[in-house]
Amino acid sequence: MRIAILSRNKNLHSIRRLLQEAKKLNIDCHVINPLDCQIIVEGKIRKVVYQGRELQHYDAILPRIGTSITDYGLTLVRQFESQGTFLVNGSKGIAESRDKMRSLQVLSEAGLRVPNTVLARGSKNLKSALRAVEGMPLVLKLLRGTQGMGVMLLQSQISVESVLDTLNTLDEDVMIQQFLKEGAGSDYRVFVVGNQIVATMMRTAPRGEFRSNIHRGGEGSLVTLPKSYRRLALRAAQVFGLGIAGVDIMEGPNGATILEVNSSPGFEGIEKATKKNVAGMIVKFVVTETRKKILAARRRKLRAKIIKKTKRRKKR
Ligand SMILES: Nc1ncnc2c1ncn2[C@@H]1O[C@H](COP(=O)(O)OP(=O)(O)O)[C@@H](O)[C@H]1O
Ligand SMILES: [Mg+2]
Repeated sequence: MRIAILSRNKNLHSIRRLLQEAKKLNIDCHVINPLDCQIIVEGKIRKVVYQGRELQHYDAILPRIGTSITDYGLTLVRQFESQGTFLVNGSKGIAESRDKMRSLQVLSEAGLRVPNTVLARGSKNLKSALRAVEGMPLVLKLLRGTQGMGVMLLQSQISVESVLDTLNTLDEDVMIQQFLKEGAGSDYRVFVVGNQIVATMMRTAPRGEFRSNIHRGGEGSLVTLPKSYRRLALRAAQVFGLGIAGVDIMEGPNGATILEVNSSPGFEGIEKATKKNVAGMIVKFVVTETRKKILAARRRKLRAKIIKKTKRRKKR
């Protein structure tokens, strides 16, 4: 079995851990830099050339595509999908979860609770936006931000107007969001692999900060996830069809509220906080799913062969 991880940096903690766990299971696992992959469309043929040669076959691909190369990475993932390769996280799920506004549309359509949010360009119509998010303070988010960057807490309407207008001059779309004061400063990061929750931590923001991201100095600690949160996290990963997902859930005025779903969640923080072997569980999941796909493909081939044979016999 050959597995590829799509990642720009094989020295990242998460990638090193995945390679380590794959080695333990004797799995042939390589890291492929998406930017070293040339996607070639030639008449009816489509192929991927990697470091000058056509990329060899992989039974499964685990995309770990960072926000800096979302578009390139997604085009590559779509190429693999069109070749019938098994993708642990598919292009649709990655694209939909990465766009912060799109992801809320998808979650809300599925009946899952998200914070009241308004997509905005500039400060026109601010009054109705303020009504929707229940006034000040409010949170502003850039659509493609990550690790807490591009997420701001604003206390006054004047600052909201000036930030919105500044971002408008930079051609940035922004989300205006209700500030969830009930759970402010802490949230749950739920790590879902397959249809299972494999680890959960509570993240607590440092003093004076409202963002609980580990990259912003947040502290992770082991917790037991309340039942309603469990259901919500599993449904959220399912809605995007993600095999691997990090779901962020916070307490809001009406209970558990989903902030976002990450398709390439890191696991340094959560492995440390929970002492769970998240990387090992990911590798095992990928191997089991890939085995199933390989067997199903073999069965399909065999069935096609038998059908062909019986047809030939009938003709005679
Ligand atoms: N509406 C909100 N109310 C209160 N805190 C929030 C809200 N949205 C985000 N936060 C805090 O900011 C952090 C980062 O926000 P998030 O939407 O997850 O963006 P990122 O993709 O950058 O992690 C969250 O983990 C949470 O601690
Ligand atoms: Mg987040």
